[in-house]
Amino acid sequence: MNFKYTSKNERDTMTLAQNFESEKFPNMVICLDGELGSGKTVFVKGFAKALGIEENITSPTFNLIKEYDSGELPLYHMDVYRLEENDDSVGFSEYYNKGGITIIEWSEIIKDKLPDERVEITFKFIDENTRVLNIVPYGTVYEELVESVL
Ligand SMILES: Nc1ncnc2c1ncn2[C@@H]1O[C@H](COP(=O)(O)OP(=O)(O)O)[C@@H](O)[C@H]1O
Ligand SMILES: [Mg+2]
Repeated sequence: MNFKYTSKNERDTMTLAQNFESEKFPNMVICLDGELGSGKTVFVKGFAKALGIEENITSPTFNLIKEYDSGELPLYHMDVYRLEENDDSVGFSEYYNKGGITIIEWSEIIKDKLPDERVEITFKFIDENTRVLNIVPYGTVYEELVESVL
């Protein structure tokens, strides 16, 4: 299954993220890919806001993972852009079953370490304000989730 969503501005991307948040469940995993500046962090901000997290979301740089505990469920925000190739010291998989929600920017870099069941959203830059999002669910839970969100 493969879905497309055209985001015409930052607000559209935030709204889509809020719609995903409204279908949240513990241990949900959302993978985000697409070039720099395509809107991955905007999506995380929209999701975090809907969760009730008031802190400003910035991409985790040095530690690759940031945990936010002030929302309805914990949010584990990962950005693996700076992960060294073959670095196995970061225990990504420990987060998938901790009861919160994991959102991973640049998930492709750790594709061998992703859970089998997840949703992948790839952002494509079209012009200054337009992005086409390609959304692929893996597993029936995520298939149903994506159908209800889109
Ligand atoms: N439709 C859109 N969706 C998301 N961001 C958009 C959109 N149109 C313009 N932007 C802008 O693009 C930038 C996306 O930045 P960011 O989310 O940090 O990208 P990434 O995390 O993918 O590197 C922001 O400055 C945002 O305002
Ligand atoms: Mg980012």
